[in-house]
Amino acid sequence: MNILITGGCGFLGTNLVHFLAENRPEYHLTVFDLLTYAGTKSNIKRLISEKRVTFVHGDICEPGQVSSALDSGIDMVINLAAETHVDRSIMYPADFIRTNIYGVQVLAEQCRSRSISLLHMSTDEVYGSSDDDESFTEETLLQPSSPYSASKAAADLLLMAAHKTHGLDVMIIRPVNNMGPYQYPEKIIPLFIDRLSMGLPVPVYGDGMQIRTWLHTEDFCYAMELAIDNLVAGGIFNLSSKNEVRNIELVKKLVAMLEQSEDLIRFVDDRPGHDRKYSTDGSKFMNQYGWMPRFDFDKALKKTVDWYRANPDWLKKHHTKEFEEYCRKQYGSL
Ligand code: DAU
Repeated sequence: MNILITGGCGFLGTNLVHFLAENRPEYHLTVFDLLTYAGTKSNIKRLISEKRVTFVHGDICEPGQVSSALDSGIDMVINLAAETHVDRSIMYPADFIRTNIYGVQVLAEQCRSRSISLLHMSTDEVYGSSDDDESFTEETLLQPSSPYSASKAAADLLLMAAHKTHGLDVMIIRPVNNMGPYQYPEKIIPLFIDRLSMGLPVPVYGDGMQIRTWLHTEDFCYAMELAIDNLVAGGIFNLSSKNEVRNIELVKKLVAMLEQSEDLIRFVDDRPGHDRKYSTDGSKFMNQYGWMPRFDFDKALKKTVDWYRANPDWLKKHHTKEFEEYCRKQYGSL
């Protein structure tokens, strides 16, 4: 099978490309990536030089670029190209509308006209915040809170419309928060590992009592492998785990693992529109594919921290001018 992975130099993309190259050598993998601030080509350098992956520099918003990439006999597109950071979506919403909505529409049209399957990555954030005892199913009303999650919800609706109207062979996955290697250090885990390793304070939004559900990228990749082999056309699936953890608990665990003092924890202004809790019911995917996450929260966090500690240069490489400017804008003089 010939698979085109858009966003294959980003966080989930890099993990998936490594996983598939290792576990499914019979697939031919092409990575299509614009290499924005969060995409790093050197993440997959070895695989490119060993000719196990073909790299194409391109933008999913450019029909001509997508079209010529698909003309190489692609059977399936996995769309991991997206603007993903909620805080940036509050600062620069237009970027999110462009890539996450318009770009997805371009992919849908290009895939449809060639009868190529599309496996699209959405998010649990499309449902908005859940109440204490509430767990969202795929039937739950979409009530996104941020420009990011609104753009992802819009893309989901466009894709389902393309499935109904034109028979687009599309499947949508809505995963919870992922942790693992190669995550750009604007997200809470790599950002805090980076700062704590340097003895710098870490900014916890609001009271830190928000809840997120976590998955290790290895579990994510294993789920994608199952989905690739048996795509359910028109199917929407939550990808979830039992790892529901309050932010403050996560932060205290990171502080302990990095042998720092809790004095470095700073409670700062809350994220506008901050969802208190994400909780999704993942039983539909589990029943369909017999998938279960293998990593509980503590094991996943330890494995993640170990990777960043073993790869300090990867984090350092991301201390760019752009990153420093973003941090100044988001965190002031913290
Ligand atoms: O739920 C899946 C989503 O997870 C993905 O769709 C998004 O692309 C991804 O960015 C992530 O969204 P979050 O907003 O949950 O991730 P983030 O790492 O930005 O924040 C996790 C939690 O930590 C959230 O409640 C906000 C809080 N936080 C985050 C940062 C960056 C802080 O308290 N301080 C921070 O500095």
